[in-house]
Amino acid sequence: MNKQIFYKLNQLFVEDVAVSEITNGLRTPFYVYSRTVIEENFGRFKKSLEGLDSIICYSVKANSNLSVLETIAKLGGGADVVSLGEYKRALRAGIDPKKIVFSGVGKQDFEIAEILRSSLLQFNIESVSELEMIHKIAIRLNKQAPIAFRVNPDIDAGTHENISTGKADNKFGIPIADAKEIYQYASKLSKIKIVGIDVHIGSQISDLNAFRQTFVNLEKLIYDLKNINIKLENIDIGGGLGIKYTDDDLEPDLQKYGTLVKQILGNLNCRIIFEPGRYIVGNSGILVTKVLHNKKSQNKSFLITDAGMNDFSRTALYGAVHRLIPLSKGKIQKTELYDVVGPVCETTDTFLKNYPVAKAEAGDFFAFLDVGAYGAVLSSEYNTRPLIPEIMVYKNRFEIVRSRPTYDEIFDKEVMPKWE
Ligand code: LLP
Repeated sequence: MNKQIFYKLNQLFVEDVAVSEITNGLRTPFYVYSRTVIEENFGRFKKSLEGLDSIICYSVKANSNLSVLETIAKLGGGADVVSLGEYKRALRAGIDPKKIVFSGVGKQDFEIAEILRSSLLQFNIESVSELEMIHKIAIRLNKQAPIAFRVNPDIDAGTHENISTGKADNKFGIPIADAKEIYQYASKLSKIKIVGIDVHIGSQISDLNAFRQTFVNLEKLIYDLKNINIKLENIDIGGGLGIKYTDDDLEPDLQKYGTLVKQILGNLNCRIIFEPGRYIVGNSGILVTKVLHNKKSQNKSFLITDAGMNDFSRTALYGAVHRLIPLSKGKIQKTELYDVVGPVCETTDTFLKNYPVAKAEAGDFFAFLDVGAYGAVLSSEYNTRPLIPEIMVYKNRFEIVRSRPTYDEIFDKEVMPKWE
């Protein structure tokens, strides 16, 4: 557990706030983030890059709450965005547009136009078709479009197949073997300004060898490009560094990662762009939930929580395991094996299977750990369950940074057409 999320007198605290103080005034489920943890993770990441000309473009998709982005902005971070919506969030939070990279395999013309008209560090282009689309828009707007190509190095990151992106049969990037030819083509387009190269091989990666192999391939390509007079300013190496969710997970060594980057890519006279998401916010968040029922079947005990897969879907999507701990530790710490399930009408609405959890009764509060990344952002209103609140804690204060919509607010977006 992170040192900012801890027990004091058997009560769970996030920084100097007892979580029970929040449950007293706000209906569960809800997310709680520690701003200090985000600051510490960012600081540690930055420190591992000391001596390198670098820029940290936090991957907004991991957690796009404005309060999180504002924290990143204050720390001097940039952003990796994949939609106009994320770009607008980043600007609203005070992130410098010159530190924003626009990634994504399916950028749309209105998004490209608005962002190009405004300002950005670079478009990370994923296909020739997209290059041509951006060029056309740049001509129309009479603007130079700064671009990098995302190359697909055909490397297995050794992670869950649903979050692997660097293999040849993934939809991402241009094949590394075609890169030289595509760069050459782009260099002839009048409104395209080649500024960089980009790669991202996947997420929750613990094997540094996959990174090493990627960087080596990238270095070779950068030399090949130099030989045909294409010089780059930026090398964007994406995100992907994993975190330790359970004892079964290996934690990649951040310092070694930094050293690897410096050794292979540090002397190419380029600025290195990093796009970490999970590493910055993953362990900053908890999901607070209440046990609705404790139900026994023939050979199982179920805890039915008020949080469901619509509020937190990493388990349903990737089989992820997130530990569950009580808000209030009883004097005697007894555990039982439970299946912890949500209230949504789907069998995949299961958080933990046959898992040791503190013995619980209906009405007891619990927290899922390490849900700061890909938690709230992946939620939905399935079963007409309103999006749940997000709270940020900083030292001894907390604030609701996204409130729960009312039912009317949800319904007001819909219409019943009067056909007759
Ligand atoms: N850059 C690009 C181009 C990406 O696609 C991603 C994540 C990142 C950076 C940030 O990766 P990170 O440092 O967070 O690993 N929902 C999944 C993870 C999906 C990752 C998508 N791309 C999960 O909950 O595990």
